[in-house]
Amino acid sequence: MATAWDYAPAPESRDIVRLQERYGLFIGGKFVEPLSGERYTTIDPAREEPLSEVAQANKADVDRAVKAARGAFDGTWSKLRPSERAKYLFRIARILQERAREFAVLESLNGGKPIRESRDVDVPLAAAHFFYYAGWADKLEYAFPNRKPRPIGVAAQIIPWNFPLLMLAWKIAPALAAGNTVVLKPAETTPLSALLFCDVLRQAELPPGVVNIITGDGRTGAEMVAHPGVDKIAFTGSTEVGKAIQRTLAGTGKRLTLELGGKAANIIFDDAPLDQAVEGIINGIYFNQGHVCCAGSRLLVQESIYEATIAKLKRRMRTLRVGDPLDKNTDVGAINSKQQLDKIAALVQSGVDEGAEIYQPPCKLPERGYWFVPTVFTNVAQSYRIAQEEIFGPVLSVLTFRTPDEAIEKANNTPYGLSAGVWTEKGSRILAMAQKLRAGVIWANTYNRFDPASPFGGYKESGFGREGGRHGLEAYVALDDA
Ligand code: NAI
Ligand code: MG
Repeated sequence: MATAWDYAPAPESRDIVRLQERYGLFIGGKFVEPLSGERYTTIDPAREEPLSEVAQANKADVDRAVKAARGAFDGTWSKLRPSERAKYLFRIARILQERAREFAVLESLNGGKPIRESRDVDVPLAAAHFFYYAGWADKLEYAFPNRKPRPIGVAAQIIPWNFPLLMLAWKIAPALAAGNTVVLKPAETTPLSALLFCDVLRQAELPPGVVNIITGDGRTGAEMVAHPGVDKIAFTGSTEVGKAIQRTLAGTGKRLTLELGGKAANIIFDDAPLDQAVEGIINGIYFNQGHVCCAGSRLLVQESIYEATIAKLKRRMRTLRVGDPLDKNTDVGAINSKQQLDKIAALVQSGVDEGAEIYQPPCKLPERGYWFVPTVFTNVAQSYRIAQEEIFGPVLSVLTFRTPDEAIEKANNTPYGLSAGVWTEKGSRILAMAQKLRAGVIWANTYNRFDPASPFGGYKESGFGREGGRHGLEAYVALDDA
């Protein structure tokens, strides 16, 4: 008699996605050839196959994009009635919904994330952000009463590869709602959903130059930051680059928001509903292959339930399905790039070398592509690199604690401060913990939940500024204290 049901593959068809062989830069409402004359190949990390050729924008290209954004700001966008701006944002949101499947497939193809996540999380949340900020566009005076909010001007926005479309939405929606124009650069490994988004802008008939999308690597990003015609920079990515940007901007008067790394504590008390907590641990660290700045990468378990928690966790890990991102059964997809895979492997090796105990469930990985087996480390000391550094992969480090004070002490013992999770039956304990945790976002009895109305951002080396909610508008308005 069969004791377990096997999954049959359930691949999503990729036919809905029509890629161009090569892409230009989206400047002034149309695709133009890069002045740099340079292109590079963007790939599917699950198959190591080329998908398309995209432009590597240089200084002259950046200048052209910034000028287009400035022209659109002065000429149309800043003069438009706010209720008219809202109409465009609503249109963009609706078109994203209509083309949701196309975006989901493309996002999984270019980034390696499971289709289940791009379909159920990334794309719906991206649309939700445009809906949400569309609602604010003609109500800015109510968001900032008596302070006469005005747009800032041209925003340069640089985003990472872990949530390409969602980060684009987080950046573009509030900027446009407040009347700014935009030059946005997706990460070098995941440019395709941003390039498809240009077609959404065309459909929405957004005036030319209001949103310009340019592609390229960190060199392009650095040119955007340095450009004198930019009024505001919004960056999501590594702490290292965030610090470099801050150095470049010192004394320039340009506005800056930074959303950087994290090393979040997910704290499980002995009265927590354990099965739910284990689901929260899994979701906290294996969601999106752990390529999540707010990932619950440090598990803090109360000592009295340590054995039971680890046993349940390992059992649950054995049910995770790793593989083809386009398969609807897949829980953990491909690592985004060879570079990121090498970083994860090196940090995991350091954990083994420093003396932590490693567990990886039996797992058959595809032959081609970039993969990493979901991993948990126990016996971890706070001094180990795997307890301190952001791994940005499917790797969990487990620590224990005895008292709430010890949990706080350990949770806050990090240069980061982006997020945290607390699992307990007691409401009063949740509130007490939330008061003392130095983290921008704290989830109680859940993890990795996002909503456009809820501000997101960090403390300390996780950056500053908030995205989402009314707070997210603040980065894009100039205020007079009238
Ligand atoms: P990165 O910070 O280099 O890349 C993020 C974005 O910044 C990309 O669009 C990139 O082209 C751009 N960029 C790179 N150098 C730049 C510069 N000098 N000036 C302006 N823009 C620049 O991150 P990377 O190298 O892809 O990943 C390294 C580590 O950073 C990851 O392993 C992870 O730990 C962390 N990271 C954190 C993210 C987050 O969501 N907070 C997102 C991506 C990476
Ligand atoms: Mg980098």
